[in-house]
Amino acid sequence: MNLGEHPMSTLVTGAGGQLGRRVLTELRRRGLPAVGASRDGEVRLDWTDTASWKPALEGVESLFVTVPMAGGLSERAGAFLQQAAEAGVGTAVLTTAMGAEDGPPDSEQRVLESRVRDLFDRWTIVRPNWLDQDFTEGLFARLARSRNGRLELPLPKRAAVSFVDAADVAYTVVAALTRDEHHEREYTLTGPAPITFREVVKQTKGTESPVWRYKKLDEAGFYFRATNMGWSERYVDTLNERFRAIANGRAAVVTEDVRRALGRDPVPFAKFVREAVI
Ligand SMILES: NC(=O)c1ccc[n+]([C@@H]2O[C@H](COP(=O)([O-])OP(=O)(O)OC[C@H]3O[C@@H](n4cnc5c(N)ncnc54)[C@H](OP(=O)(O)O)[C@@H]3O)[C@@H](O)[C@H]2O)c1
Repeated sequence: MNLGEHPMSTLVTGAGGQLGRRVLTELRRRGLPAVGASRDGEVRLDWTDTASWKPALEGVESLFVTVPMAGGLSERAGAFLQQAAEAGVGTAVLTTAMGAEDGPPDSEQRVLESRVRDLFDRWTIVRPNWLDQDFTEGLFARLARSRNGRLELPLPKRAAVSFVDAADVAYTVVAALTRDEHHEREYTLTGPAPITFREVVKQTKGTESPVWRYKKLDEAGFYFRATNMGWSERYVDTLNERFRAIANGRAAVVTEDVRRALGRDPVPFAKFVREAVI
């Protein structure tokens, strides 16, 4: 497909988030029309406020869809997708998370995935593993900042994850938004190798990373700490489920999907550390 055939714009949801921000930047770097949407975005879009949906969809030809985890928002987001398809949006790229396809059929993420498959002529599902940037911008950074640099999780130091660089995820999303060959595809994106939390802190120690020490907590201790930070019970339960998946080795799996999507290997964690936090 020729990019010139797309005069209308892409609506990027979650535009202030780790993924949405990068997708928006990359679309614009390529000179493609794109608009960032969130509660506080260039265009106001709130999954919980149906009145915000129609104005946000004006002039939109394709969508990047990202819905916060465990916020109880996916039913609303599904209704938004229905409205988008009825308004003529033809392309949707959805991010969920690695392993979403193994959840129960009525899980929030699986329901959203099947809505996207059913509603759009051109769709792609992108399921990233935990991001490298969780240590600089996301969950792990927030947790460590509240404990003077010590990341405390209900996982042993030797637990391993094939962390993926958010830029590789964003490039994959942009490829899917702009090239037919990615339609009707599902990509599980990982980094090139599993890395343990012990190795992570070895690499980030002495840098400006917010995370430079690690301690294992039990699940109840993590629960207490996280709810004390104001996080909802539902969110913390979902996190604990994802930590169990790490403990069971399921997040250490390495896929070929960055290579399938981008034709090159994923960025190694060590390169991310060198470039992002030194
Ligand atoms: N981080 C990871 O390791 C990881 C791994 C795998 C999958 N994922 C998935 O990838 C997606 C994006 O993750 P992320 O880390 O980029 O998220 P994030 O940084 O937490 O950003 C969330 C975005 O959603 C917007 N948002 C929150 N509530 C909203 C509402 N009611 N209506 C509209 N927008 C709302 C926020 O903007 P406003 O506050 O301005 O509304 C923000 O832009 C999520 O679905 C996550 O589950 C993340």
